[in-house]
Amino acid sequence: MLRRLYHDQPESFAFTPANQAWAEAQIKKYPEGRQQSAIIPLLWRAQEQEGWLTRPAIEGVAEMLGIAYIRALEVATFYFMFQLQPVGSVAHVQVCGTLSCMICGAEDLIGVCKEKIADKAHDLSADGTFSWEEVECLGSCSNAPMVQIGKDYYEDLTAEKFAWILDELAAGRVPTPGPQNGRYAAEPLGGLTSLGEFDSGKTKYNASAQLASDFGDTVKRIDGTEVPLITPWVKSEKAAAKTSAPKAKAAAKPKAAPKSVEKATVAAKKPRTMKAPRTAGADDLKMIKGVGPKLETMLNELGFYHFDQIAGWSAAEVAWVNDNLTGFKKGRVSRDNWVEQARKLAFGQETEFSKRVSD
Ligand code: FES
Repeated sequence: MLRRLYHDQPESFAFTPANQAWAEAQIKKYPEGRQQSAIIPLLWRAQEQEGWLTRPAIEGVAEMLGIAYIRALEVATFYFMFQLQPVGSVAHVQVCGTLSCMICGAEDLIGVCKEKIADKAHDLSADGTFSWEEVECLGSCSNAPMVQIGKDYYEDLTAEKFAWILDELAAGRVPTPGPQNGRYAAEPLGGLTSLGEFDSGKTKYNASAQLASDFGDTVKRIDGTEVPLITPWVKSEKAAAKTSAPKAKAAAKPKAAPKSVEKATVAAKKPRTMKAPRTAGADDLKMIKGVGPKLETMLNELGFYHFDQIAGWSAAEVAWVNDNLTGFKKGRVSRDNWVEQARKLAFGQETEFSKRVSD
């Protein structure tokens, strides 16, 4: 397939401050002189931000990495995961058209795409909300036929089920990803015939489908406010926040920052809040060391119900929460490192404190 830049390009591209901080941290992963190795994560982040990979974005990434534009263009046009034309604002659907899926009904799924989205792959639907394409094997052959929508797989599909999924997404709802025929994973349709002892203690949905349904973010694009801003190779969260601040250039110089800069106050920014917990119910925020029943109620009243919300707080957002925990000593959030604790808990891991509480 010929992969060319789209005919209608925007004037310019700039990472959002959060994405810029993330991108700069990615570049720091590589030894001096090897910064170009960060090209794929940076192009991917640009695509996540814009929805598709624009020419100014490719050029901007090349400039950040100090490489010729053609080198970045080569990468962008080589990998099919990079979308070189606008995609649907709600979702871009990737239908597997390789052997297992083709035998099990991929053509019917493509028929649904043609009927509900657009006749031709890569064309936008009339209202611009959906687009689709056929892709090579997505590695889920035992659950054929399947599609990838956003970051998740919908497997064991029928044309009817797939059409329903598209309708749900169009209505602003995110159907549970994973097998759609009642299977938990890729076990026989009639149930497990061996290794049954491993059947207990499992989560409601299988592996990433459970995490995806907890986050409810199948079609949500990464915008720099979520957990993936984890950059353990960069000294601390404070340092990452400083890189994103307007004076980042001076602060990012290799020289050690003077003590006064280290202690500079971060401008408070309100984190994203929720009106109510997700349908599965709120997380037990008391699993975070330093959060008691009173603080948990206060956090809920402020619109925080889940570990992944807290895990995504930037330094500026921590400052806002500290300011708004009225009646409590300032600095609680950082003192007990709520963000770090919440990151572990959001990924189903235990902290020393949560372990003690649940024992
Ligand atoms: S053939 Fe479709 S996932 Fe492998």
